[in-house]
Formats: sequence, structure tokens, C-alpha cells
Amino acid sequence: MTGFQPSIIVHSGAGPIKDDSLPARLEGCKAAALAGWEILQDGGAVLDAVEAAVIVLEDNPLFNAGTGSTLNSLGRVEMDAAIMEGRTLRAGAVAAVSGIRNPIKLARRVLEDGRHVMLAGDGASLFARQVGFPECAPQSLIVDREQRRWDSKHGTVGCVAYDAHGMLAVGTSTGGIFNKLPGRVGDSPLIGCGTYADDYGAASCTGHGEAIIRLLLAKCAVDYLKNGSEAKIAAEIAVARLDDDRIVGNGGIILIDRCGKIGYARSTTHMPVCYITGAANVVLAS
Ligand code: GLY
Repeated sequence: MTGFQPSIIVHSGAGPIKDDSLPARLEGCKAAALAGWEILQDGGAVLDAVEAAVIVLEDNPLFNAGTGSTLNSLGRVEMDAAIMEGRTLRAGAVAAVSGIRNPIKLARRVLEDGRHVMLAGDGASLFARQVGFPECAPQSLIVDREQRRWDSKHGTVGCVAYDAHGMLAVGTSTGGIFNKLPGRVGDSPLIGCGTYADDYGAASCTGHGEAIIRLLLAKCAVDYLKNGSEAKIAAEIAVARLDDDRIVGNGGIILIDRCGKIGYARSTTHMPVCYITGAANVVLAS
């Protein structure tokens, strides 16, 4: 079945941007959205579109995912990623992985393998080896900026897409938060927290993982869609939940509803996004 009008949205993380990198970040989002859009336009599968877009974001050293991931308290990169398809509820995730250039690809392998939803740490590396997934030197993912900095940062990348078959999918990938304890897992790979898709919508979160986990924010947002909220409103009321004295956190969300309508919102000063709808109508926002 085809005939649905595809749409796609990507984000490159919520948080203050204190340097002059916003234009480059927006360009990075656009390149990622276009990579996914090309697949959607050709009638390709929504999971392929999401994976392709997140790979472009992970490969961009400006973003805190894949190459350019932030460092933990031992000065090492440990990354999280998840991918999920709405109609089938198939999901794959990896947590606290090192030496993997594109964690979203490994998450996709976990999804396709189908035995488990999430693999973490050494177990994820073992799985990667068993399925012949290429590993890289952990050091090669560290960029100078991250080596130098000593300041906390929240950043994540994500993509939500809707294909010509009316299928929804989402992918989220992150290096987590700077100076985190080894083994810390954020919201991104946790289904329902930073990443969720079902028949009613798909959502990817960014921001303070410890807050997002406690709120099950991505599932909450999709439930708002299920209960009849418009995409824009669902994103706004989900993000408003972060304003809760009990959890102290901020962040943002991107989502698409079951009609392909896009919504996004943030409680931070910035969240670069790019979305494409209709006749290849490309919109950048921050
Ligand atoms: N939202 C990304 C993280 O907290 O790990």
C-alpha cells in the first residue's frame, strides 16, 4: 500500500549553543533529513530512512553521537542508540557501547536479529563481532573539541519519519552526557523514554536523560497523539512535563503523528531541527 505523503524531521540535540556553530548545525540537520527524504521519495522503507538520516548525524563531528560523542568520567566514549518501527513495534537498541562508528546501525542489527530489544556494553560488542559488524578504534571517535572541554553538555541526535506506506519509525543516538559515570545509560536507547513508535506516532527526545527516563517522555508524547492532540500540541505538552520540581531537567522532542504531521518543542534555548514535508518543502528551525 502506498499513496501516503512522506515526512521526516531530525534534531541535533537540545541545549544552549554558545558559539557560532548554529548555521553549521542546521546544515548538518538538513543533510541528514535529505538523506532520509531521498529514501522516502523513492518509496523506500521508513526504517531505512531513519537509519540513513541518523548515520549522517552520527558522522557529523559537531554532534554528540557517533564521531564527536562526549566523553565519560574516564575520558572514554560510551554511546547509546535505538531504532523502532511503529506498525510492528519492532525495536533494537544498544547501550554504553564503545568502538562502534555508527551505533544506530548496530541498533538496527539488534532489531533485525529479533531475539532481544537491547544489548549493552561488552555484550553489544560481542554481538557486533558475531554478526560481522565492523568495529573501530574507540579513540578514533574522539574529536579535539571533546578532548579539550570540561563542561557539561546535553546533546543527542534523532530522526522520525513517515513513509509512503503510512509507516512510522524513529531513531535516536547519543554520546550521552559529559563526564557521566562509566556504564551510565541515558534515555535514548530506552524504549518509551527517549525513543518510541507505535501506530499513533513516533517520537525522539533529547535533553537530560535522567529526567526524560523518569517521565517516559517519548511514550507520553505518543499517548497524547493517541488521545487526539495535534502533533504540535503533543510535543509542547510533553516538553512542558519537564518543568517539574521533582526531576529538574530540560530538553526537547520531535514527533510525527499517524497522518504524517510534524511537531517539535524544546524547553532549552536551542534545538536545531530540519523537517521536510509535502513537495520537498525543507524547513530549518532552532
Ligand atoms: N538525552 C541523552 C542522554 O541523556 O543521554
